[in-house]
Amino acid sequence: MKKQLRNFLKKIPGAKAAYRLVCRLFLEPWKMRGMFAYDRRRFLKFSPHSRETKAGALAALIMSYHIIEKGLTMPDFRLGFGREKLLALIRNLHDFADKYGTDEPQFRAAVAVIAEYGKTHADAGFALDEERSRAIAALLERVPVAPSRQIEMTRERYWANLDAPFEAFSASRHSVRNFSGSVSVEQIRDAVALANGAPSACNRQYVRVHCVTDRALVRKCLALQNGNRGFGHLADKLLVLTADLRAVWGAERNDLFTNAGIYLMNLCYALHKNRVAHCLLNWSTPPQPIARCARFWLFPNLKPSSSSSPAAMFRKSSSWRLRRGNPLMKRLCFTE
Ligand SMILES: Cc1cc2nc3c(=O)[nH]c(=O)nc-3n(C[C@H](O)[C@H](O)[C@H](O)COP(=O)(O)O)c2cc1C
Repeated sequence: MKKQLRNFLKKIPGAKAAYRLVCRLFLEPWKMRGMFAYDRRRFLKFSPHSRETKAGALAALIMSYHIIEKGLTMPDFRLGFGREKLLALIRNLHDFADKYGTDEPQFRAAVAVIAEYGKTHADAGFALDEERSRAIAALLERVPVAPSRQIEMTRERYWANLDAPFEAFSASRHSVRNFSGSVSVEQIRDAVALANGAPSACNRQYVRVHCVTDRALVRKCLALQNGNRGFGHLADKLLVLTADLRAVWGAERNDLFTNAGIYLMNLCYALHKNRVAHCLLNWSTPPQPIARCARFWLFPNLKPSSSSSPAAMFRKSSSWRLRRGNPLMKRLCFTE
């Protein structure tokens, strides 16, 4: 049918150009709307009610116990932290156990972190209030689990496997949340050069790394992110990854995320290799803070965009016609 239509149009002067225009103006946007509607339907079908399922409830538990776990590793560890979060987590653990039992490894890991919270405070001679102490004791009576132990490591041990075979090297990379000293621009350059070996769809290579070097600006940007409290202020530099929407079209609508994720993991290994301790941060906030940060602080020289969406800001971040072999500086941009 399509072929017949094409042959028919070939015979009418100007019809092919008109057909292309119709496709660009109407058919393609219509198809795109259909794809996004599908994404939206699927997300709304599975995500908002996910906590009513075992998988969703478990994910919520992991997220909550990770906050307590992170609190236990903070540089300026504050005894007695996270009271309400801890109590809520214990309530949720009981609810989960009522519904699904106590055998799930991640469930037991959550209980172990709570046991560690209790032990750490007891070892430090810090008296928790009665409600918390009782809640911890009751949970441990129901699910007897040994306390977990956060990893403590010296700088020397952390960097000990940089030249080891990949198994040992990759296993030695961890998120670091206690920084000291500074990271040089050369270290960042070398890491980005190494990370540039990452594959991308059709080798389009549209991910960019923006390095923020000004400490005050780093702090201002991090204030808009919700996962760096307690350690973000120690970071010497901030890297922001962007990907260019002009490099994807049609059904590739999610490819930016896939390609950026692949690049990001390569960058983590490359930073590790270049002795740059780092912690990944999500930027899963509503669009406004990202747009503000991008528009006014990170990329102030962009021309005002016709749209104020963060996607539009990011789209303009830099040239995207870069392929893997192109010079490093096109990939890496510095924001002083
Ligand atoms: C997409 C993504 C977003 C993350 N966001 C945060 C964050 O906001 N704050 C944080 O402290 N850690 C964050 N992390 C780090 C994870 O908590 C960490 O990678 C995970 O616990 C595994 O630990 P590891 O990196 O030591 O292997 C993030 C990790 C990923 C992959």
